[in-house]
Amino acid sequence: MPWSPAGPGSSAPTSSTRFWNRGDEVTVIDNFSSGKRENLRAALARGAGLEEADIRDAERVRRAFAAARPDIVFHLAAQIDVRKSIEDPAFDAGVNVVGTITSSKRR
Ligand SMILES: NC(=O)c1ccc[n+]([C@@H]2O[C@H](COP(=O)([O-])OP(=O)(O)OC[C@H]3O[C@@H](n4cnc5c(N)ncnc54)[C@H](O)[C@@H]3O)[C@@H](O)[C@H]2O)c1
Repeated sequence: MPWSPAGPGSSAPTSSTRFWNRGDEVTVIDNFSSGKRENLRAALARGAGLEEADIRDAERVRRAFAAARPDIVFHLAAQIDVRKSIEDPAFDAGVNVVGTITSSKRR
């Protein structure tokens, strides 16, 4: 079962669709800070799982991983706004560095 933080962003639906098309179970974690819910509508209709959570929330992510027990994880959740990264580097590091560690931890 692939697992994708995050699903509704620009790049995630394309990669996730490949798994859905070959019949894999897919679970997505996203806080919808920039991703659009409508990008997930087709996937959810086909049975994809959704955890609405922030990847910096280690306990929520741990529980979600324990429930989905993924074989593969694609980490696509990101803060991609360059202007915001300059204005608020701590927030940028929180999402892009801490979030990556949280999403990559062995469960
Ligand atoms: N778009 C591309 O062509 C492309 C190409 C190569 C690599 N990438 C990489 O893929 C990643 C995503 O890029 P994108 O263009 O899809 O960005 P995007 O902003 O469209 O999508 C990011 C997703 O992450 C979610 N998200 C942000 N912060 C979160 C948080 N704290 N917790 C949970 N979810 C959160 C957003 O809601 C959104 O769904 C980046 O690392 C980017 O560098 C993108």
